[in-house]
Amino acid sequence: MAIEYVDKAPTLEEYKEMRRAVNFMVLSDRIAANALNNAFHITTVRDNGRAVGMIRVLSDGSYANFITDVMVIPEYQGRGIGTEMMRRTVDFMKSTLLPGETIVLYLMSAIGKEQFYKQFGFRTRPNEVWGAGMSQWITRRE
Ligand SMILES: CC(C)(COP(=O)(O)OP(=O)(O)OC[C@H]1O[C@@H](n2cnc3c(N)ncnc32)[C@H](O)[C@@H]1OP(=O)(O)O)[C@@H](O)C(=O)NCCC(=O)NCCS
Repeated sequence: MAIEYVDKAPTLEEYKEMRRAVNFMVLSDRIAANALNNAFHITTVRDNGRAVGMIRVLSDGSYANFITDVMVIPEYQGRGIGTEMMRRTVDFMKSTLLPGETIVLYLMSAIGKEQFYKQFGFRTRPNEVWGAGMSQWITRRE
């Protein structure tokens, strides 16, 4: 294995293939291409050039930052790649700060992945301080 962490988007085809591999929702090409083009920061993990994992940050470029598309294809899971992607991403976001500044990182955990994210300082919601995170998917039918 020659694992590399490259701070650059995967191709559209690689993105669609990785999403398929982890059973994420199928996106239209337009939605998927814009998701890659408009992200704030993307790391793609490659093994001898093959895209095997990725992570994206969506951002206002400042305070509010959302980590999404955290994925490692099944044959590469459990080898520390997801941990390394998360560590690098949190470090990168810290590198955008000046001394004393604070920003927020949000993410939505898949069921059963909460422990994976807790090691990086994320807290589940609701808790004694914050209400629940909320979300919905919207579809235009015609
Ligand atoms: C969640 C996900 C990104 C984690 O990536 P990963 O590369 O498998 O993660 P890691 O290998 O760093 O850690 C996963 C587990 O393997 C263990 N592990 C870490 N390094 C390891 C190594 N070198 N060898 C064996 N196991 C290892 C970790 O302790 C961790 O254990 P846990 O399941 O108890 O938390 C990956 O499982 C995935 O893509 N899942 C499908 C998509 C998904 O659900 N994404 C999350 C959306 S919120």
